[in-house]
Amino acid sequence: MLAELDTTQEQALAALAAAGDDAAVEAWRIDWLGSKGQLKQLMARMKDVEPSERPAFGERMNALKQALEDAFKAHKDVGAKGPSGPPMDVTEPGLPAGLGRRHIVSQTVAEIIEVFARMGFEPTTGPEVEDEWHNFTALNVPESHPAREAIDNYYLEGGGILRSQTSTVQIRVLEKTPPPVRIVAAGRVYRPDTHDATHYSMFHQVEGLYVDRGVTMVDLKSTLLGFAHAFFGEEVEVRMRPSFFPFTEPSAEVDMKMRIKGKWQWVELGGCGMVDPNVLEALNIDAEEWTGFAFGLGVERIAMRKHGIADIRWLFENDVRFLRQF
Ligand code: DAH
Repeated sequence: MLAELDTTQEQALAALAAAGDDAAVEAWRIDWLGSKGQLKQLMARMKDVEPSERPAFGERMNALKQALEDAFKAHKDVGAKGPSGPPMDVTEPGLPAGLGRRHIVSQTVAEIIEVFARMGFEPTTGPEVEDEWHNFTALNVPESHPAREAIDNYYLEGGGILRSQTSTVQIRVLEKTPPPVRIVAAGRVYRPDTHDATHYSMFHQVEGLYVDRGVTMVDLKSTLLGFAHAFFGEEVEVRMRPSFFPFTEPSAEVDMKMRIKGKWQWVELGGCGMVDPNVLEALNIDAEEWTGFAFGLGVERIAMRKHGIADIRWLFENDVRFLRQF
C-alpha cells in the first residue's frame, strides 16, 4: 500500500509537469487536490488499512498531499512570472551603461599628433593597403633589399602589401602637394613578427615630414627636442645616433633619456634623417632647391614608456580590466 503511494506521487507530479496551459493545470488541481479529487479518495481507503499500519499510512498520505500542494504552488508561481525570472517593472530606472573610453594607443596617437600640430605639422593619413612603389621603391629601397622579403611583409593575394612603415605617407603627400610641406601622419603598420613582450605583428607609427627651402638637421633635432619636452617633460634629453635608412641621408636613430622606475635611461623611440635627394628627384622635386627632414616614431613604445607598460601584448588582448586603467 505504501509503495503504491510512491507510484501515485510520481504519476501525479508527472501529470502536473505535462500540463501545458492554465486550463490543464486547473484540471489537474481539481483531479488531485479537489474536494472529490484523488487524494480525498485515497484518504477514504484509511478504513481498509490494518489498524496497526494506519499511523504509517496517515503519515505517508500527509507527505503526498504536501508534495502535491507544493508542486502545484511552484508551478503556479512560475506561470505567473513567465519563464524569464522576476516580473519586469518598466518604470524602474535602467542600469547605467558603462561609459567607454579611448584605447590607450588611440589616446597616445592623439596626444603625439597634437604636439606636432602645435609645431605647425598638418595631420594627415594614408592607406594601410599599399603597393610596392609607395612602401619600397619610392622610398629608395632597392629591388634586392632584404626589407622587401616576402617573409618580412604581408603580401596580399592579387597584389598589394600591408604597409610595413608609415613612411609611405611621405610619398603620397609629396606626389600630391608641391613643397613646402609639413605633415604628421599616424597609423597602423604590419610586420610578420613573432609576438613577444616587445614585438607584435601590427603596431602604430607616427611619421613626420618637413620639406622646405633651407631645412637642416638643426631643425630636425630641435623639432624632436620640442616634442620630447612637450610630451614627456622638460627634463628629457634627445640624442641622435648615426644609422641607415634608404630614404634619408644622413640617417639617425632617435633616443630619449627618460626616468624609468627612478633611473635615467636612454630609450630608442624611432628613426629620422634628412630626406634623401633620390626620394625628392624621383618625385620631380628639385633637390638643389628643396631639403627636408623626416622621422618615424613607434607609438606603442612611447605609450609603454610613458605608462610603465611592460608587455606590448597587453595592449591588444582587449582585457578591459587592463585597459580601463588608462
Ligand atoms: N620607417 C622607418 C621604420 O619603420 C622609421 C623611419 C626612419 C622613418 C627614418 C623616417 C625616417 O621618416 O626618416 O623603421
